[in-house]
Amino acid sequence: DTVSWNIEAASLGDYKHYMEKEIFEQPAALENSMRGRFSEDGSTANFGGLNLTAAELRQVDRIVFLGCGTAWHACLVTEHLIERYARLPVEVEYASEFRYRNTPLDRNTLFFVLSQSGETIDTLGALREAKRKGYKVLAINNTVGSSIARESDGGIYQHVGPEIGVASTKAFTSQILIGAMLALYIARMRDMSYNDGLAYAQAIKSVPDLVRRVLETQAAHIRDIAKRYAHYQDMLFLGRLSLFPIALEGALKLKEISYIHAEGYPAAEMKHGPIALVSEKCPAVFFAPKGEIFNKLVSSIQEIKARKGKTIVITTEGCEFPPGVADEIIHLPDCHEAVLPVIATIPVQLLSYHIALERGCDVDKPRNLAKSVTVE
Ligand code: G6P
Repeated sequence: DTVSWNIEAASLGDYKHYMEKEIFEQPAALENSMRGRFSEDGSTANFGGLNLTAAELRQVDRIVFLGCGTAWHACLVTEHLIERYARLPVEVEYASEFRYRNTPLDRNTLFFVLSQSGETIDTLGALREAKRKGYKVLAINNTVGSSIARESDGGIYQHVGPEIGVASTKAFTSQILIGAMLALYIARMRDMSYNDGLAYAQAIKSVPDLVRRVLETQAAHIRDIAKRYAHYQDMLFLGRLSLFPIALEGALKLKEISYIHAEGYPAAEMKHGPIALVSEKCPAVFFAPKGEIFNKLVSSIQEIKARKGKTIVITTEGCEFPPGVADEIIHLPDCHEAVLPVIATIPVQLLSYHIALERGCDVDKPRNLAKSVTVE
């Protein structure tokens, strides 16, 4: 296999930056990631390249996910979804730590490595370590013929085309979409009913349209917000459950390309440290979608307001906030819980992109960072 990117797919077209292009082409990219991957009855996902029979997968008692950087965040989202829907224990480790940590492992453990490039040396090292111990290692990877693709026992190609911007965008949303599909696949082998599977699969299929809607209705609004927040030096990103990893990813995106100090935290952990940072100089981006813990999220936002922090609240349509709680509101379309992480990522991509532009940063080639880290 050779790496053969279509040159046209890599050209900038009408966009000013690759990051912008890659954010806006997500509806099509995500369509490519899911194409041909649903069962005929429409109630589950199908993956041709796992090289694992249903009977073999049934024997798995635990899955370990490994990755670095943004891919590690995708591992965390996938952990949440598999445990939530398939009720199968999952662990996530940094590939770089796993290589040297000598983690105790059960016999019936399956590994997944996540890597856009398929060349990250720590992820490759972790894959080799798991294989050396005799475990099966699958990959979720965007680069056909990459080292990780060649050395893994099988896996799932992302098919989102080349990602040129150093800060990952479409590769991340594609990984968490595939993670959601994997959760569906395993869940339907365990306790998810046909009807629940059907609704879940329908939700996955609606993702490109939902992402398009966020891009169409929120992009200009988020650019305006970015103008008001570009001068800050510190920012918090807070979220819970499946959106905690999106808070981490939002903070990473912002620090990577705008050099603003940003931290992601589970919202309820705020009181154990980060709240000490909150002041009129440190705004917080808050994920507060509808759901069982909506009221808890509102109280956390109020804690920030009580300490004079500005709040940018990302929520779903139909949610109401008490007056004075949200300085800015970004609306997401109401959607199935399994696809919420993908939809909620779009605003933080746009926010970091526009803040970085306001600050005159080179968004496609941030200082000190490489697209693919092939040295330890
Ligand atoms: C570098 C990139 C990140 C990426 C990470 C893992 O740090 O700058 O954007 O998330 O490597 O890369 P991979 O290709 O393994 O997904």
